Amino acid sequence: MSEEKLDSLLHLGTIIKPPEEFVRNANVKNYEEEYKKFLDNPEEFWAKVADELFWYEKWDKVLEWNLPYAKWFVNGKTNITVNALDRHVKNGRKNKVAFFWEDEFGNEKVVTYGSLYTLVNKLANALKNAGIKKGDRVVIYMPLVVEQVAAMLACARIGAVHSVVYAGFSVPALRHRIEDAQAKMVITADMTIRRGRAIPLKQIVDEAVRGLDNVEKVVVLRRLKPKVDLIGEKEIDFYEFIKDADTYCEPEVMDSEDPLFMLYTSGSTGKPKGVIHTTGGYMVGTYYSMKTVFDLKEDDIYWCTADPGWITGHSYIVYGPLVAGATQVLAEGAPNYPDFGRWWSLIEKYGVTIFYTAPTAIRMFMRAGEHWPEKYDLSSLRLLGSVGEPINPEAWMWYFRVIGKERCPIVDTWWQTETGAVMITTIDGLPMKPGRAGKPVPGVVADVVDKEGNPVEPNKGGFLVVRNPWPSMMRTIHKNKEKYESYWNTIPGCYFAGDVATKDEDGYIMILGRADDVINVSGHRIGTMEVESALVSHPSVAEAAVIGKPDPVKGERIKAFVILKEGESPSEELVNSLKKHVRTELGALAVPSEIEFVDKLPKTRSGKIMRRVLKAKELGMDPGDLSTLED
Ligand code: PRX
Repeated sequence: MSEEKLDSLLHLGTIIKPPEEFVRNANVKNYEEEYKKFLDNPEEFWAKVADELFWYEKWDKVLEWNLPYAKWFVNGKTNITVNALDRHVKNGRKNKVAFFWEDEFGNEKVVTYGSLYTLVNKLANALKNAGIKKGDRVVIYMPLVVEQVAAMLACARIGAVHSVVYAGFSVPALRHRIEDAQAKMVITADMTIRRGRAIPLKQIVDEAVRGLDNVEKVVVLRRLKPKVDLIGEKEIDFYEFIKDADTYCEPEVMDSEDPLFMLYTSGSTGKPKGVIHTTGGYMVGTYYSMKTVFDLKEDDIYWCTADPGWITGHSYIVYGPLVAGATQVLAEGAPNYPDFGRWWSLIEKYGVTIFYTAPTAIRMFMRAGEHWPEKYDLSSLRLLGSVGEPINPEAWMWYFRVIGKERCPIVDTWWQTETGAVMITTIDGLPMKPGRAGKPVPGVVADVVDKEGNPVEPNKGGFLVVRNPWPSMMRTIHKNKEKYESYWNTIPGCYFAGDVATKDEDGYIMILGRADDVINVSGHRIGTMEVESALVSHPSVAEAAVIGKPDPVKGERIKAFVILKEGESPSEELVNSLKKHVRTELGALAVPSEIEFVDKLPKTRSGKIMRRVLKAKELGMDPGDLSTLED
């Protein structure tokens, strides 16, 4: 057994108590008590949380549950931006900082709740003036700037449904999302900054919207000097667009179940699916977790390193923290540019108290060495978070020791685009077990079960499920009811998360990975079929199969097996051409790290590629049942 693996197993048995002082001051001090409150009366539990927020009209009923369809805070009327902005501006937080923003060059911006409020209101009015109405879809394809957050909120203000596309996706991926959502508008920027370079975005949008009649306008935030040209009648400068708009926009009165946003995520099919979240429940769920999982208090400086292009950014940069009135750090660019000290220098500079990041980043910093964080004063930190993929015990211990100085609890938060908010972690005084995410947060009944839904024995592998509806759950999949229903009928009566997990004697859940054909690269979900479709659209490729392989930093990396067309022969050049092709089709995230040319792929008799056989062979493991293999 390798030393690393041994170390991992040793740490798996470790139990670390959260610091007493932390527990004494926590918003909720006792997990068991809080969980019991929920179990005793789930509806009362959630009504109490919802009552802390503003509603034009209160709900008639907390929950209407017709499996698999849920309605939360039935007939309640609200607008999430009133809770995220107006409520604070009117209650003494007008000059409170909402965002300390900076880019890689040290350009800074301090945005108060008051100024964010004005920006959002003006943009909301501009959207209205441009004919955007409640229910219309707006695609946002922007860098990590305050205007991106404002664009999301402006849509929410008028009831338009935003679909944010991460600015690392390429033309066809963006085009698919714009077309599938039938977006009327795209809001973008000229460029994003990465490693000291400007990476153009607008050209990508220009190509992606070409010939799409549904797109009436493209709003462009122009940051470069001289300013990039705007082309045709559709394109307009961001600040020109809002220049004459009124500074107050009456919020649209939204029904609790009106859609708030859609967000595409990868699954086991060739095309990503548009997950739909609605207003009231999502607002209540993300707000509650901000206060409990992240223990947010008035004076905290909170930093989530995600991008709003992913669900983590939606729930824990935009909606959760702003509804809870947080002050946040927002940093554009790479974590290790100009050097591996960047993030730690920002924690020191802003006095960050709550820090939320991904295991892949932690492992990268682990490799770079402790001397980087040691150069900076990290004593402001009081709570650390992790999300996106399993955090191995070594990385957990390093994070705890080197960054948190053994003072800060770590919340390893398991959740998904579909769940909207954190579902499993260790909160409110629960002892921590490195490598195990923990227990279901109050409001969630989670379990590890077999195919029929029966709980498996402690420490045996099974499927991770949720047994009850929760406020921030997705409500459907855009134009795909069957897909939505499949989450709730794969294992009868339970929400099937698509992950495999174990549960120990104390009820701590450890996530082992995906149960389906989804690869998790650096915490980002990539569908094997999406990469395979991209590969077979290359003129030299006849067939392709893609698997995930363990990677010490990224968690998993992509390996592709490719059958070439007649007359084509393997070469280094072809490998590069295939990688480039995937980058153009999908984006840099989806590029395979390894490509192997083969003559044959293992298939079932009905012609389906058996990826698990490829994976087992690759990793030297037992391939399991081969009875359906073609030959
Ligand atoms: O496999 C799980 C993994 O990420 C998947 C969800 O991906 P996505 O919808 O992109 O959302 C990521 C951020 C919330 C899950 O099905 N995952 C997420 N968090 C964890 C995790 N795996 C293990 N531990 C986690 N804390």
